[in-house]
Amino acid sequence: MNVTTTKAAPETIDTPLLAIAAFSDDGDRGDSFGDVDRALSGLLKALADEEEFDAKPGSTLLLHTAGRTGFGPRRVLVVGCGGAAELKAKDLRGLTASAVQAANSRRLGGIAAVLPSVDGLDEAEAVRFSAEGALLGGYLYNAWRTKDVKEQSVLSVTLAGVGGRHDEIVARTTAACAGVSLARDLVNGPPQEITPIYLAEVATRLAAELGLEIKVFDKAEIEARGMNLLMAVNAGSDIEPRLIHWTYTPPGADENTPSVALVGKGLTFDAGGYNIKPTGHIEEMKLDMAGGAAVLGAMRAVTAWAPKVIVHGVVPSTENLVSGAAYKPGDIYKALNGKSVEIMNTDAEGRLILADALSYISELGVDRIVDLATLTGACVVALGPNIAGIWSNDDAFGAKVKAAADRAGEDAWVMPLAKKLKSMLKSPTADMKNVGARWGGAITAALFLSEFVGKTTWAHMDIAGPSFAEKADGHITKGGTGYAVLALLELVSGEL
Ligand code: BES
Ligand code: MN
Ligand code: ZN
Repeated sequence: MNVTTTKAAPETIDTPLLAIAAFSDDGDRGDSFGDVDRALSGLLKALADEEEFDAKPGSTLLLHTAGRTGFGPRRVLVVGCGGAAELKAKDLRGLTASAVQAANSRRLGGIAAVLPSVDGLDEAEAVRFSAEGALLGGYLYNAWRTKDVKEQSVLSVTLAGVGGRHDEIVARTTAACAGVSLARDLVNGPPQEITPIYLAEVATRLAAELGLEIKVFDKAEIEARGMNLLMAVNAGSDIEPRLIHWTYTPPGADENTPSVALVGKGLTFDAGGYNIKPTGHIEEMKLDMAGGAAVLGAMRAVTAWAPKVIVHGVVPSTENLVSGAAYKPGDIYKALNGKSVEIMNTDAEGRLILADALSYISELGVDRIVDLATLTGACVVALGPNIAGIWSNDDAFGAKVKAAADRAGEDAWVMPLAKKLKSMLKSPTADMKNVGARWGGAITAALFLSEFVGKTTWAHMDIAGPSFAEKADGHITKGGTGYAVLALLELVSGEL
């Protein structure tokens, strides 16, 4: 999909479908509506009035122009955007997502969208978010369909009503959205295909394409290095684990160049182990590598974004299954950093594989670590299905992660790393156990992870809610969302 911008007046654009925003707090439904209505001699307003179109967010109205002379677009899609006074640039994702979806279902080859002129709306931001809406709202996962294959027919997207040039923003957004789409593909793919081996292959191929340094540890190396927690989780699986480690080094980097590591949980199927998940909880557990997929997606775009910091991407990957060899409640293992962990619940496996990955990267000596994991159902109970939780051992860094998510238009909230709850992780026989009590489950998970980062400035994002969508919503498509790819790119490109 190719995105371009233009100053041209909407009625002069030759396009199969023109999308315009309409607002509910303006009797005239907003400027673009008025302009297009005038060009159509009042036809649009007549239709909207008759249909009692109220411009509520998400509502749409389609008008065929049937080749009217002097009017370029073949169709006009009016997209309700609610009150103009409340409009944020990120809301424009819904405008272009609606347009691309309407066009795809009609097998049209392109769309144009008019960016509304609303007070306080920054043009560059409007371009960025409306490009995102088109690129992500048009996402389809067809790999395994043999019938009802939905087509991505829209190849060109024209953003109209844009005065300046924003080529660089469009290029960065296009690269970022390719990363988001990759993350979505990996989450949507079935778990017998998306294995640790497969993730490592994709990572290796990407690294070669992009010129990133990569190391992939196989089972023998993971064992030899003493990543015993990752080994323990893998014990019940017939598929080998992998630990993937890319490094992006900016041009001209030296020993003073700051570094940040992105660590993602790559649990390709979480059956829960002997604490097996019941029906109703197990079905979607292919999503449990969404943190790893987000890191892969961000690494996919990192060369295009060219941040000034060294960026490490680390993904520990395994399945969590049952077998005669699987780890058991009561087992005690020594982590890579030497701490002993008593397994009290084999379904609290994400923190185990992350613990070894965090020890590995913090011992290498990075300045900042952010981990991403579909770690706890408790986080979804606390914040609902759309918002990620952020924990950090450094309040200022936690706030930076939150600010990066805000800039990316991804919802996240800073949660307390409540030290008092650490006592819940006390074990009678080992340094700690891998679960706390029932209450504060997302906090005790974060506290567990904090034991494996040494003194490194670290933040943890629990993305169990937002990485998977039960239903489509604007630019978010059903299934894997690619959540956090954009936030990570913002984070590594901003001030750390
Ligand atoms: N992968 C799950 C968390 C999860 C739950 C992600 C729902 C997405 C949706 C994780 O490994 C898990 O099983 N966590 C347990 C922890 C508990 C045993 C302390 C949970 O949340 O129930
Ligand atoms: Mn689990
Ligand atoms: Zn899990």
